Amino acid sequence: MEKTIVTSALPYINATPHLGNFVGSVLPADIYANYLRMKGEDVIFICGSDMHGTPIEVRAIKEKVNTEELAESLHKKAKELFQKFNCNFTYYGDTNSDQNMEITYQIFDALDKNGYIKEVQKELPYCNSDGIFLADRFIEGKCPVCGYEAARGDQCDKCSSLLEPKMLIEPHCTICGKKEIVFKKTTNLALDLKKLQPQIEAFFEKNAKANWSKNAVNEAQKYFNEGLKYRDISRNTKWGFSIPKKGFEDQVFYVWFDAPIGYIGITKEWDDLKWKEYWLSPDTRIIQFMGKDNIVFHTIIFPGMLIGSGLGYTLPKTIKSYEFLNWEGKKFSKSRHIGMDMEEALNIVQDPDYWRFALVLSAPENSDTDFTETGFVEAVNKIMNGKIGNLCQRVFTLINANKRMFDAKATPDPEISSRLDALVNEYTSYFDKLELREALRVVIEMSDLGNSLMSEKEPWLLAKAANYDNKAAAEFSVIMNALLKVAYTVSILMYPFIPNSSLRILKYFGINRAPVFADISSRPELDPTLEPKPIFEKLTDAQISKFRNFS
Ligand code: 2FM
Ligand code: ZN
Repeated sequence: MEKTIVTSALPYINATPHLGNFVGSVLPADIYANYLRMKGEDVIFICGSDMHGTPIEVRAIKEKVNTEELAESLHKKAKELFQKFNCNFTYYGDTNSDQNMEITYQIFDALDKNGYIKEVQKELPYCNSDGIFLADRFIEGKCPVCGYEAARGDQCDKCSSLLEPKMLIEPHCTICGKKEIVFKKTTNLALDLKKLQPQIEAFFEKNAKANWSKNAVNEAQKYFNEGLKYRDISRNTKWGFSIPKKGFEDQVFYVWFDAPIGYIGITKEWDDLKWKEYWLSPDTRIIQFMGKDNIVFHTIIFPGMLIGSGLGYTLPKTIKSYEFLNWEGKKFSKSRHIGMDMEEALNIVQDPDYWRFALVLSAPENSDTDFTETGFVEAVNKIMNGKIGNLCQRVFTLINANKRMFDAKATPDPEISSRLDALVNEYTSYFDKLELREALRVVIEMSDLGNSLMSEKEPWLLAKAANYDNKAAAEFSVIMNALLKVAYTVSILMYPFIPNSSLRILKYFGINRAPVFADISSRPELDPTLEPKPIFEKLTDAQISKFRNFS
């Protein structure tokens, strides 16, 4: 059987992921992996914390703690948080493992041996007070173009001019605030993407048109047109995997070198034998989910590394890259307190399914979208509770209250059955095109079908009449069987999106495990011993005002 690896971009560990990060990577990857499991496919869902990088090292310096311990504790916290959001990883690991180091070294050695690693001379800013080389965003000064006081080493946020650290006037270190900056000469290592361009382009031609999001195709194309260049892979800092090459031992790999290799390393951490069956097999399909800021790394740099290594690792096939989710019209920003992170969200509404549902409906599939109070309230109260919850509860209650006259063997109207089948097909075809938001809309449409059938046929009147009218009794059973089938199908199809709620509803049908597609074709049987309870709750005024005050 063909194997599938679903990956989500590995979240940086230095800050708690916000809802915008979640909606564009882990959440859709999780949903898609759930869908493939429902189809009975051989799929593993791999994710983990991206542990390295300058921001966490700087945070540790500022907090005067050990970097590795800080990263470990943040990793633990992130892992728990994703668990609380019901993410069903095959394995959630991290990039700082022995396994990832081993594969990073293996790929580096191969790239070096194959002539794709070059030495490049640089002059980099160094803070004498902190004893650390300063990455672009840790050096600030006056912009030489517009005079803005807080321009960063790589760019001025005011006039957008691209800068070099050396161009800043009176630069200071943003870690300690001092101006004790000197420029030191250093030799770094870089990946020769220019030499790899023909092979990376061939990989692009083979996959991009059919399997990548439009923004990924466009961005990669832009890079090819400009011509690929060298990319630094080493950094003069301490936190990270040290470089296994003579003369470079005091440098570490740039975070973007070992992070994507982390997909492989984490799989190896999961299973020391099976990882090869997935990563070294021509039968594996790799599907990667990410936000648009990660495109270049997944479409050019990571494939370039794998190709250049010549080690036979399977190349990613599908790239699903999201646009950005904004928060009430503004960009998420931790420092400016715009937008919620995942932990803050659960502090307001505990059930993760409420967030998962509302986030998918606002997912930035083709353009930037906005997460708003109105949108959240509408998604939860009007749609999830008002349409899906309401349908299931009314159906269960009506059947439960009229057990004596309900014939569970009556055949539903074939026209309704065929409309239901058509919707199931629509659902799978959206999923297969990775249009997850549209697939969820089909589930909602299905609940609309049930709700309108209910108002049109008024089965509660038939139930009343059934006491003295056999025809009404028969009609009641026909309609209720149709409605039961609709509610049952809805509860199966919502599993990838809101797994907890789906399982809660499926209990009414005596199903106490994750559903599979084959369940759809079996006849639903309502457990007569279960007292129907509301499936969801509306958001309370207190919750809504907490949400509002947060903004
Ligand atoms: O943008 C981010 O959060 C990065 N840490 C994503 C890394 S994805 C991968 F390649 F590791
Ligand atoms: Zn400093």
